[in-house]
Amino acid sequence: MRASYERPIIVRHSLAGVNKFGSIPVIRPLTAIDGVRIDELVGTYGSPLFVFSESTLRERVRELRAQLSRRVASFDLGWSYKTNYLGAICRVFHQEGSLAEVVSGMELRKALASGVTGRQIIFNGPGKTAADLTLAFEKSAHVHLDHLDELALAEDVANQLGVVPEVGLRVSQSELPVPTWDRFGFHLESGGALAAAHRIVRGGRLRLRTLHGHIGTFIPNPEAYRLAALALARFACSLENEVGIRITTIDLGGGFASHNTLQAQYLPGEETTPALAEYVEAIMSGLEEGMAGRELPRLVLETGRALVDDAGVLIATVVGNKRLVDKRRAVILDAGVNILPTAWWYRHDIHPAQEVVGTAEPTVFLGPLCMNIDVIRDRIMFQPLRVGDRVVIRHVGAYNVTQWMQFITERPNVVMVSPKGQHACIRKAETLETLLVQEQMPAWL
Ligand SMILES: Cc1ncc(COP(=O)(O)O)c(C=O)c1O
Repeated sequence: MRASYERPIIVRHSLAGVNKFGSIPVIRPLTAIDGVRIDELVGTYGSPLFVFSESTLRERVRELRAQLSRRVASFDLGWSYKTNYLGAICRVFHQEGSLAEVVSGMELRKALASGVTGRQIIFNGPGKTAADLTLAFEKSAHVHLDHLDELALAEDVANQLGVVPEVGLRVSQSELPVPTWDRFGFHLESGGALAAAHRIVRGGRLRLRTLHGHIGTFIPNPEAYRLAALALARFACSLENEVGIRITTIDLGGGFASHNTLQAQYLPGEETTPALAEYVEAIMSGLEEGMAGRELPRLVLETGRALVDDAGVLIATVVGNKRLVDKRRAVILDAGVNILPTAWWYRHDIHPAQEVVGTAEPTVFLGPLCMNIDVIRDRIMFQPLRVGDRVVIRHVGAYNVTQWMQFITERPNVVMVSPKGQHACIRKAETLETLLVQEQMPAWL
């Protein structure tokens, strides 16, 4: 076979670009997802295309369950709907034994509509309405209270329904090696959480049984979890001693890092992200120390991105190439930040979906939106791509198919690939009709 022609390039020497890691790694083509060829997937469902691996979803959640089983007598996982609430994704997690963790009335109704029972639902979030709380209490969902007005509303709703539901208190903490998320929940160190517990006892309309502490998101630091668990366990003990409340569940929310690389991160996430076992070990050592020999409460985790991110890829097609003034090669893809908002947070891994020839050079991947902010990856050493070539953007399973925007393009198909190599659409691509069906025309126009 004749070697194909390689266009020569001149790359400007850049002092700031010294590569400390030696030779530039060759980016391997990724031509199939769990044995299903990307050509076949794009031929069937079009481009751009989100593809989820059922095997990876199950492997990740089973790994977390296995680590917890080794270490914890009583635990539950709550699948964080906001991370990805496509029905097929939720079904996989529910089949694997996860509860549903919802943060809005819409998510609550979505979980109920898909057959999850109220008792299998954890209801977080700062914006619960009286109607949401009524539905949650009627269905015996586990409501975690966020602020005092919500506490009062929950008491009213419980009173009207004539029930005394078990609730949780969301607790925020400042003395952790992560930014403080005190906009959610009752603050621990300044006494807000203790005051709320007293208030619940005085009101007599709710029973406090759970402490909840979601300390942030993408936290690559298990020590933060040890400290958070320690503080919540100590708080649980002091509630028992001083207020007579027995806490039976400590819920540490989500926040474990996935294998993505944050924009500001130096080393790649695939090398630095702690194993799930490290988080579990840290939490358990904090809980055990904090409970000081008392019976451990049930542990709940609402892990989102660390379970689903690795399972999702976005396939995109090259629509054009151009050279920017700073000499970077620009590749225009048919997928933009409207469907991949996580491109703003991460330096997503990108692979060609076919063999590529030629020398890698600094490349920027742009989307098709007529917006300057539409950058999928601002600098990556990449071989030349031709119009029609495909790329696979990895670790995109979390937050994209819930936070994506219908902005100047229809949102594309989402597909799941089964462990046996079957594939099926799990969310149909939008059409112009999808857009128009929501619009209305005032009579005077
Ligand atoms: C209350 C709560 N639980 C769980 C999660 C899931 O977090 P993550 O996807 O970082 O694991 C979130 C997301 O921010 C959350 O707000």
